[in-house]
Amino acid sequence: MTQQQRSPYDLPDVSGLSIGILGGTGDQGKGLARRFALAGHQVIIGSRKAERAQQAADSLDAGLPVRGAENPVAASEADVVIVAVPWDGHKATLESLRTELAGKIVIDCVNPLGFDKQGAYPLPVEEGSAAGQAASVLTESKVVGAFHHVSAVVLLDPQVERVDLDVLVLGDDREATDTVQALAGRIPGARGVYAGRLRNASQVEAFTANLISVNRRYRAHAGIRITDVG
Ligand SMILES: NC(=O)c1ccc[n+]([C@@H]2O[C@H](COP(=O)([O-])OP(=O)(O)OC[C@H]3O[C@@H](n4cnc5c(N)ncnc54)[C@H](OP(=O)(O)O)[C@@H]3O)[C@@H](O)[C@H]2O)c1
Repeated sequence: MTQQQRSPYDLPDVSGLSIGILGGTGDQGKGLARRFALAGHQVIIGSRKAERAQQAADSLDAGLPVRGAENPVAASEADVVIVAVPWDGHKATLESLRTELAGKIVIDCVNPLGFDKQGAYPLPVEEGSAAGQAASVLTESKVVGAFHHVSAVVLLDPQVERVDLDVLVLGDDREATDTVQALAGRIPGARGVYAGRLRNASQVEAFTANLISVNRRYRAHAGIRITDVG
């Protein structure tokens, strides 16, 4: 390692940040909510319906600092906001929350994938990637792509104490990517690794299709590790 190389552990203290999750009633949103709440973060699960959001919050381990609210409340009240809606609802959801999300770090974990008899495959995206689409809609926010390869099943499994994988973090703003890398590191076993600018998010999103193939062949919940960093 050269002396100029910064460690992926040399990151800001993010322990005080609250986290909102758009579409947090799905497995991915609930899984991330659970892990961040276990790490001590205040979490707001967002939904199109406040009642569904509260039910999702109540379904998690008792005593965690998680509450439910409509998506606009989760977007405006949390320090950092994760987008965990399906690709179908991605653009419209973000267009409706431009004001609430202005000035914030917005983490996009959406994988634009199709499924057929042969399994999962990446869908073409006009803006290059889901994260790129988020950046083109949310011009006043700092969009970061991350958590694409983290399995909801693993996040929700109470038997899994350590989520042993690397979270690839992509974005155009150094402070924002450092913050998101640090947030990934709040999940025991996980490490956030900077993986490039947003223009390179498409292959990271698309690679999820390969991981799904791995999972199907080997009945696994595979993640990835980057070697020779750290
Ligand atoms: N599942 C995984 O393991 C995993 C891993 C990595 C990344 N991801 C990504 O994370 C995202 C969420 O995955 P998921 O499996 O949790 O999805 P999901 O259960 O299908 O959807 C999550 C939530 O999004 C809301 N929603 C559904 N359709 C919507 C629409 N048209 N507009 C706005 N909101 C809508 C629903 O909440 P309300 O009805 O309560 O509003 C739903 O509960 C996906 O984009 C996926 O690619 C998933």
